[in-house]
This record gives sequence, C-alpha cells and structure tokens, in this order.
Amino acid sequence: MKFFVDTADVAEIEELAVTGLLDGVTTNPSLVAKAGRPFLDVVREICALVDGPVSAEVTATDGATMLAEGRKLAALAPNVCVKVPLTWDGLKTCRQLRRENILVNVTLCFTPLQALLAAKAGATFISPFVGRLDDIAHDGMALIGDICDIYAQYPALETEVLVASIRHPVHLLEAAKLGAGVATLPPSVLKQLVKHPLTDRGLEGFLADWAKTGQSIL
Ligand code: E4P
Repeated sequence: MKFFVDTADVAEIEELAVTGLLDGVTTNPSLVAKAGRPFLDVVREICALVDGPVSAEVTATDGATMLAEGRKLAALAPNVCVKVPLTWDGLKTCRQLRRENILVNVTLCFTPLQALLAAKAGATFISPFVGRLDDIAHDGMALIGDICDIYAQYPALETEVLVASIRHPVHLLEAAKLGAGVATLPPSVLKQLVKHPLTDRGLEGFLADWAKTGQSIL
C-alpha cells in the first residue's frame, strides 16, 4: 500500500520525506490556503522533495479553464498529478489530460458509481472521502469496499483507489484490509502509526538492562 501525505506544508513534508516512507503528496485548495504561500511555488518545492505523484488541484469549474490550469500545473514538474473535481467538466478534463499523458487524481468522490465514471475517464487515482462520509453518519469505509470490488471486476480499469479524508489510524487499517492501493494521511495520523506504549516501555526496559552490562556496541 502506498502512503501519501495530505498537506501543503513544505517543512512538514520535508520532515516526513526523510523517513523514506512517503510515496506521494496530496494537496487541495483548503490546505494551500492554510499554508499561506503562493500555490505554484509550493507545488514546485513539494515536487522536488518527493519522487512520487504530487496532487495539485485546479480551481476552475468549467472544462476549458480546468484544462488550461491542469496543463500549467503539469508543466511545473514531471511528478505533478492534476486534481480535478468529480463533475462532468472534471471528467472531460481528466480524459483529455490523460490523453496528454498527464497524471490525474479525480477528487470529491462519494459514491461507487462516481468512482466508476472516473475510472472510465482514465483517472490515475480516484479519491473517495471516507471521513466526510462518516461525519454525516454514512459509512465511508463501505464506499472503499464497494469501489475496490467494482474495480476488481474490470481488470482493464487502471485507476488506483486513493483513500482520502482519513481521520485516524483505524481508517487506514480498514482501508489496507480492503486492499486499497493508496491512502493519503494527515501528517498527524502518519506520525501516530509508529506509536505503541508497549514499544516505548519495552525499549525503556531493554536500554536499562543494557546499561547494567556496561558494554557498548561501537
Ligand atoms: C485529499 O486528497 C483530500 O483533499 C483530503 O484527504 C480531504 O480531507 P478532509 O476531509 O480531512 O478535508
């Protein structure tokens, strides 16, 4: 399973990239607003830090402008993945950008049939939002299961399921059990993954006992 990080904070990405565990980055206009920096600079900087796909979202809503924005974003770096919303204009833009060999992430997916449309439009990634569905008392993870099942029926579809709007490690665990190809994690959730109190306590005990031996490895 690939791990992307969901942030437009360059310093945070730099810190996580050194772990070697980052397979890509996703941003959206809200994350860019939170970062408070010029969007195109941020995209260029992130692309230089991470080898994998970096999602940068268009902000137009009509197909022609979306396409122009998508081409401009894609020209910033070879690993830019243009993010388009799941609308008819977004799907048309997706189809055209894919013809031009540009990576595309179709975002704001909330139903299995929307995901099927995105795959038919040739999307590189489909981003179903689990947390936002859970927030309105729907079952976000059921959506992931449905999309994985549908895509598995049609091996010719090449779209990868990119689980988005993850709120906690259990979302990731469930998505991994369902076989989703990618998860985009808020940095706080990614950092939580390594933590376990028994790991901390165990290490403390080993180090205390090692100190009693008076030895050193180096
Ligand atoms: C990722 O591509 C999405 O933009 C993101 O995961 C949305 O998460 P949120 O629902 O926490 O805003």
